[in-house]
Amino acid sequence: MVIILKNIVSTKPINSIKCVFPIKSVNEGLSRMIIAAFISQLDPTVSELSDMKTVISEAVTNCIVHAYKDIPDKSKALVYISGEYYTDGRVIIKIKDKGIGIENIKQAREPLYTTDKESERSGMGFTIMESFTDKLRVYSKKGKGTTVVLEKRIGL
Ligand SMILES: Nc1ncnc2c1ncn2[C@@H]1O[C@H](COP(=O)(O)OP(=O)(O)OP(=O)(O)O)[C@@H](O)[C@H]1O
Ligand SMILES: [Mg+2]
Repeated sequence: MVIILKNIVSTKPINSIKCVFPIKSVNEGLSRMIIAAFISQLDPTVSELSDMKTVISEAVTNCIVHAYKDIPDKSKALVYISGEYYTDGRVIIKIKDKGIGIENIKQAREPLYTTDKESERSGMGFTIMESFTDKLRVYSKKGKGTTVVLEKRIGL
């Protein structure tokens, strides 16, 4: 007799959200609030909520500050955010831009690395995103844009 055990854990998200907005600094706070409201359905702790707000801020600020800095037509400078959560409490947030891209992702992820020394940036954004989540993935292509995927288990 052959018994086939099926994976009963659904890979389908139980909820999802998508939003797109122009690179205005007011939208950094807006995106933080939208994602906080979205994940509040999972009953997060104060610290989980604060961690998520911090990482969203860092990722969206990078789109606003770096992604479109050499692009003259700012009307096409948009940030795309999508979020999903699963029955096991996993939250996945994707923050994408279609800007200049990152040539060397490994180097960009190093603590204290910044290409924007004039603005006295500390080069700690990716390090913060990495330490406040369970998993950080960065995909980028020069001239095409960047996608940051943040994963964290909430409310368990
Ligand atoms: N979305 C993006 N598009 C293009 N380049 C990016 C993007 N995000 C990050 N980078 C590059 O990666 C570098 C490191 O990013 P990180 O967020 O760690 O530091 P920072 O933004 O320079 O400083 P901080 O986040 O501490 O203010 C940036 O200086 C920039 O060169
Ligand atoms: Mg940054």
